[in-house]
Amino acid sequence: MALSMRSTVYILNKVLVVGVLLSYVASVDKSNFKTCDQSGFCKRQRAYKPDQSPYVALLDSVQIEPTKMKVQLLNTQNQVRLLLEVIGLERNMARVKINELNPIKPRYEIPVGDVLIGDPKQDKIEISHKDGGSISLAFQSNKIVLQSKPFRIDFVASEHPVVSLNANGLLKFEHLRLKTVTQEEKKEQAGGFLGGLYSWFSKPFRGDEKQEGENQEGQGAEERPEGQEQAAEEEKEPEAKEPEEPDMWEESFKGHSDSKPNGPTSVGIDISFPGFEQVYGIPEHADSLALRSTKDMDPYRLYNLDVFEYELDSPAALYGAVPVMLAHNEKQTVGVFWQNPSEAWIDISHNLADKSVLSKVVDFVKGGDQIPQVDTHWFFESGIVDIFIMLGPGPADVFKQYAALTGTTPLPPMFALAYHQSRWNYNDEEDVSNVDANFDKHDIPYDVIWLDIEHTDGKRYFTWDKSKFPNPEEMVRNISAKGRKMVTIVDPHIKKDDHYKIYKECRDLGHFIKNKDGNDYDGWCWPGSSSWPDFTKPAIRQYWASKFAVEEYEGSTLDLHTWNDMNEPSVFNGPEITMHKDAKHDGGWEHRDVHNIYGMFVHQATVEGMVARTGGLLRPFVLSRAFFAGSQRWGAVWTGDNTGEWGHLKVSMPMILSLSITGITFSGADVGGFFKNPDSELLTRWYQAAAYQPFFRAHAHLDTRRREPWLLPEENMKVIRQAIRERYALLPYWYTLFYKAEKDGGPVMRPLWVEFPSEKGLFKEEETFMIGDALMVRPVTAAGTQGVNVFFPGGTEQYWYDTDTTERVFGGAAHYVKTPLDKIPTFQRGGSIIPKKERIRRASNLGRHDPYTLVVALDRKGSARGDLYIDDYHTFHYRKGDFIYREFIFKDKVLENKNGNPGSTFTTPSWLEKVIIMGLSTSPSAVTISSPKSASTSLGFTYDSVKMILTIRKPAVNIAEDWTISIQ
Ligand code: NOJ
Repeated sequence: MALSMRSTVYILNKVLVVGVLLSYVASVDKSNFKTCDQSGFCKRQRAYKPDQSPYVALLDSVQIEPTKMKVQLLNTQNQVRLLLEVIGLERNMARVKINELNPIKPRYEIPVGDVLIGDPKQDKIEISHKDGGSISLAFQSNKIVLQSKPFRIDFVASEHPVVSLNANGLLKFEHLRLKTVTQEEKKEQAGGFLGGLYSWFSKPFRGDEKQEGENQEGQGAEERPEGQEQAAEEEKEPEAKEPEEPDMWEESFKGHSDSKPNGPTSVGIDISFPGFEQVYGIPEHADSLALRSTKDMDPYRLYNLDVFEYELDSPAALYGAVPVMLAHNEKQTVGVFWQNPSEAWIDISHNLADKSVLSKVVDFVKGGDQIPQVDTHWFFESGIVDIFIMLGPGPADVFKQYAALTGTTPLPPMFALAYHQSRWNYNDEEDVSNVDANFDKHDIPYDVIWLDIEHTDGKRYFTWDKSKFPNPEEMVRNISAKGRKMVTIVDPHIKKDDHYKIYKECRDLGHFIKNKDGNDYDGWCWPGSSSWPDFTKPAIRQYWASKFAVEEYEGSTLDLHTWNDMNEPSVFNGPEITMHKDAKHDGGWEHRDVHNIYGMFVHQATVEGMVARTGGLLRPFVLSRAFFAGSQRWGAVWTGDNTGEWGHLKVSMPMILSLSITGITFSGADVGGFFKNPDSELLTRWYQAAAYQPFFRAHAHLDTRRREPWLLPEENMKVIRQAIRERYALLPYWYTLFYKAEKDGGPVMRPLWVEFPSEKGLFKEEETFMIGDALMVRPVTAAGTQGVNVFFPGGTEQYWYDTDTTERVFGGAAHYVKTPLDKIPTFQRGGSIIPKKERIRRASNLGRHDPYTLVVALDRKGSARGDLYIDDYHTFHYRKGDFIYREFIFKDKVLENKNGNPGSTFTTPSWLEKVIIMGLSTSPSAVTISSPKSASTSLGFTYDSVKMILTIRKPAVNIAEDWTISIQ
């Protein structure tokens, strides 16, 4: 979000809230956002350092079911009981849930289907050992050891303890309670109108005295029938009272008060990773890929926020939150996913494991070596403990495990993987048409042009500013006639205007989120005074979805796609520029309980509308700024309002990598930076880097100078054009990777350690990364860089080929690579085959039937493999099997094209234009092609013996047929 002077003035004129907005504009800085110390629950949880955990697992309460163990946990300080459930899940996973045994009302849990794609399939667990102090459970080839006093759980995979819960005794579960009223308050109230009521509300909660099942139906204290008050009054005080702290029942921040009607509700526990030195994930932060120790800073925060000009190297919260952490060492990768959409903070420290404790769990820890351990401490403001433990053992296994829980990114339509041109704003139809024409004039491919908020009638989404966009439908058709698409922005804040249809309908249907007093929640955003539909309610998502029907959204066509922004939600005059936590959602839940998932529901509803408008035929494209675990199922996200500075270009790599390994496959950063005016060099380098990131869009703030590629000096324009063309040439590879990502949840853009898991030296690498398993990229991210040192992984056995020069380098060492302005250091891995399309087109759709080039990079044994996925690039028919999947295998000087989807009748006219074989050490005497259909024919070729490159010209066979090319 950005409040520039211009937009500020605009808003001031429009909404006449001079006081509120002036104070907002004057304070857009770090102090708008809480530090841990300014957040009641963060402060309480972080300060919690008991000598020993007061929680004891009551082993005589154990109930064992085929896939589940239940046991009560007693807090020996306040006598409150919790219920622990340990559930075995298929695919090397387990789930640990901790909730109050008898809460006075239910605590929030995300309905199955919203984040979890279904009830995770459970698997058998068995007690393998039990004594007075511990229980061991066996499941699959793993072991879970529960110790009673103090309570802790250790997960052992392949004989290694890999995850421990409560090893540091930091479980702190703030049970729901009723407010304690002091004697003075009682006296004051006695005789008064409220006196009677206080007799009930002042009763302290005694969790230990309740029977299981009591209040399970959501019968909170407020619902207790009259007449029971007297009895309640007479109950005894509990033995130990909870210490009360001032911000437990009310909190305020910068003049915003949070009424906290439920009091303290936070849940925290420590999660340790013995045997590991690095942990990753928990996006979104503008920080390193390998997470840092938080000893001298605030914990990493997960709270979806609209942060103005965000800081780098910071654990501060940004627009999205994925509570997933991975730990990786040379032998194992494990992960944890805590399913909870309330605000969270996570502390991290790098330590040594306590071997005396771990040796109770497995024998081998008795040796002399020290065992590293990463200790993490997680705390959420409300909800429950619901942790999925993913036991790998490798990175790809963890990705599959997480995908089995929360789903994968559906294959995007091809245009979505191409280049997008955006700006706040393309001003009118003429502007759009000029920008479009300039791409053609300068022979720069592009697929999508974007319209930001100014295209609407006064920020009423689903409408057009008719003076600037009098013929929107025609405009979209003009764009799509060239094989291109358009995206318009649709934000979730709804302008309060009785003449605006969406507002009226939502108000009359009761669709808006309510404030704490039960009235429609009201806040400020781009249109001025606004309300927000309650996307947590399925019926309201359906309502929203229906608005994308072409007949409903005037001026739209099926070639118009959508951008959801400001969906954290951003509320200019709200606490921390977001919604009040005591706002009320469907079912009586507080905004506090659901904050981090709100934006995902907006994304989901929009996608569902876009699918429904085509009767389920066409794949939609929707970009969202806010996200949560599971957002990958709805499409793309981007890293929000970055800045046109080198540091922001550099941080885009670890930011996107962190998203990629936590399921968010399709993400990118605004090319050029949203704020400020990048110089030509920075902008050029940014295009080069982003051409190798999953979502590739240039975007800029309203107040920045125009920076479309042709406005740069000729030299830069040419380099940018080349970078975009490279992206287009590699689209077959990207598309194939996205197809595979939908199947197995693996990231498309991946850290090096994902491909080379046993190379410790790569564990912190974030400047060099992989696209799929075949392409390594090291973008230039600093001004004036003449060259970069690139470490080539895989050991000396591994070959790498520079994609520009075809020069071969050996792995296991660093090499200096010169980086003149036109150089993007990219290297193809020996042993891989990459499909490309080398014809230059104005949009991806125009090249859909173009011929292919196969680039074969031989490994030490002279072999290589690759694949290619092709479908109609835009419908869902591929889900019925209508696609081509070819596997290319090069071995013993024979390249074979094999059918990987034999059942399919899908065909393509595309043929094979060229085969380039890198690393072939002997000059061939002949090259022939043969297929089951035709006899062997000779092919033309050239061989460069210095570079060891064989180029086979015009095999001219269909890319989707079985054939073999043999080199004699
Ligand atoms: C904030 C978004 O992050 C930015 O990309 C957009 O241009 C502005 N809102 C205006 O819609």
